[in-house]
Amino acid sequence: MGRKLLLEKVHVEGIRYFDTYRREGGYRSVEKVLKTMSPDDVVEEVKKSGLRGRGGAGFPTGMKWSFLAKPEGVPRHLIVNADESEPGTFKDRYLMEHIPHLLIEGIIVASYALGSNTSFIYIRGEYAWIVDILEQAIQEARNNGFLGKNILNSGFDCDIHVQRGAGAYICGEETALLESLEGKRGNPRIKPPFPAVKGAWDRPTVVNNVESISAVVPIINLGGEEYAKIGVGKSTGTKLISACGNINKPGVYEIDMTISVEEFIYSDEYCGGIPNGKRLKACIPGGSSVPILPANLLLKTAKGEQRMMNYESLSDGGFQTGSMMGSGGFIVFDEDQCIVKHTYTLARFYRHESCGQCSPCREGTGWMEKLLWRLENGQGKMSDIDLLWEIQSKIEGNTICPLGDAAAWPVAAAIRHFRDEFEWHVTHAEEAQVRNFGLAHY
Ligand code: NAI
Ligand code: SF4
Repeated sequence: MGRKLLLEKVHVEGIRYFDTYRREGGYRSVEKVLKTMSPDDVVEEVKKSGLRGRGGAGFPTGMKWSFLAKPEGVPRHLIVNADESEPGTFKDRYLMEHIPHLLIEGIIVASYALGSNTSFIYIRGEYAWIVDILEQAIQEARNNGFLGKNILNSGFDCDIHVQRGAGAYICGEETALLESLEGKRGNPRIKPPFPAVKGAWDRPTVVNNVESISAVVPIINLGGEEYAKIGVGKSTGTKLISACGNINKPGVYEIDMTISVEEFIYSDEYCGGIPNGKRLKACIPGGSSVPILPANLLLKTAKGEQRMMNYESLSDGGFQTGSMMGSGGFIVFDEDQCIVKHTYTLARFYRHESCGQCSPCREGTGWMEKLLWRLENGQGKMSDIDLLWEIQSKIEGNTICPLGDAAAWPVAAAIRHFRDEFEWHVTHAEEAQVRNFGLAHY
């Protein structure tokens, strides 16, 4: 049984409410930092913990905090990115739904460290019911003196506002999120300047994922060094994984990043294996933007080592033979799944979600979708596969924000590892057509 830091209390009845959460030891980290630590001490503790951003990029959280500019007299902000929209990713939703005070507690500690008196949770529009849960938790924290003016007589003021998005995937990109928060269309900004220097309303801003901020609570309670002892190498602490697809036990699991991918898929503690004894075909280990891996490369790296559920091992081999931990959205495919169809579905998603600012992304995602639809429906040519490859290679690295890369990588990985399946759709056009009769083209 792996160590649990975030979900340890998640099954305690009533943990969603302040009284139970507090009785179970909640808000201790707020007391600790306000009574015994300076803001810089808190940043130092998070640095020592080795925590890496849990939204997908894995950027060191303590380092991000230390980049925050502190010009005299200019307010600073913490914004929690709860715009969880990456296909296959639903871990933040689970945290906010079941144990919202963990996030609120983390926000208060992080706000103190960063000097943010007004912090925000920017939440995806589709999570409407969670807005109510969060608002209630915030009100309970206010009523109990953990939010508002002069928290615990420390002189520190902090309040939290929840801002609901309108259902655009792109608003999870941090600068698009800032635009949206400011009331504008959610178009990503060119970086640099990074939000740490010029963020919301041009003020220094830190944007952190829900899970990252929640992890600050055990980091403070345990101490950064103790936290860093959990896990392995630069994959410290625990990570939430949302597992779905062809597995017996879909759900959200907390792992300590020392288990193998094989154990995660087949053990009863986690995914419980593949239904009906089917064979494992492939897996996207970190949300739809990261490369898909065929079973052989998923379970073992190209060096023949066991593939582990952590940042280093999942990306071992780069994109040629590896993938990424990403957001922890773990999508499993059994032997019956069609990779071309799956790639088409993702291409359609990215085309729909592109904001349209850069031509390689705006035009390229549309072309990829059309070509994949043609192939999937038995109307493609062999040269379409090469054209697809060329288009994705022209998008990658040539756009303002990572959505372009995120659209290109799944296509590249699918062709790299499953080219025979794409070719089959050309050589067996009639069968492909029959099989996909009725597949809608939007
Ligand atoms: P990024 O690598 O550009 O940035 C990571 C973070 O570090 C950002 O907050 C950035 O501002 C900060 N940073 C980097 N260099 C900095 C510097 N020199 N000074 C100050 N701050 C600096 O990646 P990004 O755009 O934040 O995230 C992309 C990832 O998001 C993808 O890999 C994907 O896995 C994930 N993603 C997750 C989704 C979800 O629903 N959880 C949705 C879509 C994508
Ligand atoms: Fe918009 Fe795509 Fe360019 Fe990102 S890469 S700014 S989503 S057009």
